[in-house]
Amino acid sequence: MTIDLRSDTVTQPTKEMWRAMAEAEVGDDVYGEDPTINRLQERAAEMVGKEAALFVPSGTMGNQVCLMAHTRRGNEIILEEEAHIFMYEAGGPAVLSGCQTHRVKSERGVLCPDDVRAAVRAENIHFPETTLLCLENTHNRAGGTVTSVDRMRELAAVADEAGMSVHLDGARVFNAACAEDVDVRRITEHVDSVQFCLSKGLAAPVGSMVAGSEEFIARCLRARKILGGGMRQAGIIAAAGLVALDTMVDRLVDDHDDARVLAEGIAEMEPFSVDLDSVQSNIVAYDVDPNWFTAADFLADVRAYGVLANPVSPQRIRMVTHYQVDRDDIERTLDSMAEVISQW
Ligand SMILES: Cc1ncc(COP(=O)(O)O)c(C=O)c1O
Repeated sequence: MTIDLRSDTVTQPTKEMWRAMAEAEVGDDVYGEDPTINRLQERAAEMVGKEAALFVPSGTMGNQVCLMAHTRRGNEIILEEEAHIFMYEAGGPAVLSGCQTHRVKSERGVLCPDDVRAAVRAENIHFPETTLLCLENTHNRAGGTVTSVDRMRELAAVADEAGMSVHLDGARVFNAACAEDVDVRRITEHVDSVQFCLSKGLAAPVGSMVAGSEEFIARCLRARKILGGGMRQAGIIAAAGLVALDTMVDRLVDDHDDARVLAEGIAEMEPFSVDLDSVQSNIVAYDVDPNWFTAADFLADVRAYGVLANPVSPQRIRMVTHYQVDRDDIERTLDSMAEVISQW
């Protein structure tokens, strides 16, 4: 059996999801008539403590419709230097919103309030207007690190002082809440909008939610239409999303425990170095000593043992735990890695 640690996006729907999809009551969602989507949107809004929510096909579209709804052409958006919105959304802020990005360094993916304050542009005809702060919690590139509730509050206060709105790329915000051991609303209460993915650790096959005020979500609906994201009888996939919210949130702690065991095992292996303090949720990112091998060479060999993972740079690997990986798989992964090293 393959152990697929490339991402939590590889998860297959659970049996309960398949059943819910087969039996979903559907309608034309562009007319607002899909009862399953309507239920999912109400439930998502309630879970993150916002007035309204909107179902979108992907996390990328979720982030981009929020940016479109928050900004005007020529605005500047502040975000962390390796934020997903900057790194992996194909230039979306420039293409779709006509905005430029102002990247700010962080400590393990967590922004410092003073650095954000310093990045806000003064009122001056030569400068773009800084209108939006984007946060990412947990932070993907930093290895699933968590911005604490207190830090969320401090960053929101800086945004408020500067008259900026705050958007949270919460693709894995339930992992953040789990790591902080708080209700997710303690995190989302500090932002104007949030995007979270149903199709990552929560294991639904497709979809993300955006949530915010009624008025904001009405603007997102228009932005989603521009992007062609109105999906008609998409209650079929929303049905799996509802099961995800009902059944997959409380078990994320198992993924975090597995990631910790994996990280501690990897830390014992000579060719690798892991910043154990950065292992805070379901992602383990670690460096590969170039005197041994490249990430790609190592991963090609470990693949022969049925273990899959992705390189994030030539000398860095990322492994992600999820509900289709259990503790035995983690032990098998560590054994396979040790085997590859012993034969190198
Ligand atoms: C932090 C973060 N934001 C957004 C996304 C985009 O989600 P999607 O792949 O559904 O577009 C991802 C996907 O990995 C992510 O990790």
